[in-house]
Amino acid sequence: MLLLVLGTAAGGGIPQWNCACSGCSGARAHPHRRRRHASLAVRSGDGRWYVVNATPDIGDQIEDRPELHPGPGRRQTPVAGVVLTDAELDHTLGIARLREADRLQVIATAPVRQALLDRLHLGAVLAPYTCVTWRELPRRGTEPLAGDMPGLPDADTSVLPTGDTSGLRISGIPVSGKRPRYAADAPDDDAWVVALRLYDPSSGATALYAPALAAWPDRLQQAAAEADCVIVDGTFWDDEEPRRTGISARTATGMGHLPIEGENGTAERLARLSARCLYTHLNNTNPLVDPAASEHKKLARLGIEVAYDGMVIEL
Ligand code: MLT
Ligand code: MN
Ligand code: ZN
Repeated sequence: MLLLVLGTAAGGGIPQWNCACSGCSGARAHPHRRRRHASLAVRSGDGRWYVVNATPDIGDQIEDRPELHPGPGRRQTPVAGVVLTDAELDHTLGIARLREADRLQVIATAPVRQALLDRLHLGAVLAPYTCVTWRELPRRGTEPLAGDMPGLPDADTSVLPTGDTSGLRISGIPVSGKRPRYAADAPDDDAWVVALRLYDPSSGATALYAPALAAWPDRLQQAAAEADCVIVDGTFWDDEEPRRTGISARTATGMGHLPIEGENGTAERLARLSARCLYTHLNNTNPLVDPAASEHKKLARLGIEVAYDGMVIEL
């Protein structure tokens, strides 16, 4: 299994366009501190790539990775679709950015799909531009990532990169009922936010990707205990960070993000896992956005990594 880390920042990115905080100013002064919105690319069994969460940066994120570049046909792309862990704007606005595609698969749980169709009207808006196929992300069992692509001629796949015949399998482990603000009154469902589980039958490797964690349910704990690699929500260092920095009147947990450190903190849980563990979806207020911050040493002592843009994880 090959995971390309396309971005590691929370909504707004680092730097955020309207923010002069030390994290954002630091990233303007030191370009290596920049982080695009959190996203991954994963290769399916048929050699095509899926992007996990379509961010506002998706065009640049595809340009950054030669594996995702089009060719050899003039309008032939190895990017087959998008898998969503939630319906948040920082994870979905990029879908519209892919409207030049001939066709596009979007794989999501039912509440996420419904929010995109009923609230953002993405189905109606995109229909004149491209053919979007909506696929259900299973909450139980697993299903091949490379699903049916209706109307795709065989010839289209024959020239795409192959080599991974493993048939990556996916499922979404319900994490929380946290809805995006634009769908605050939408029906309750435990799969508004999921942890994406990726399983490679050829190597037996499992990865978990959960950039938004409002809770740590038992099923997530089970999956994390069995996983080889766990990449999770590192939005805030501690619960008071959003209030202390003045970005919100709510705590981190109140905003739907378990903090890294403290009572509800995820670091202690990660430290007990045998998996390789990494944080992603860093907010610009998080001290970890400064490479010199002492918090990096604290995580290193626990054996936990901080993901960075351009990182490649092979399992
Ligand atoms: C979140 O991660 O909580 C959301 O992306 C925040 C937002 O973009 O409004
Ligand atoms: Mn977010
Ligand atoms: Zn900032």
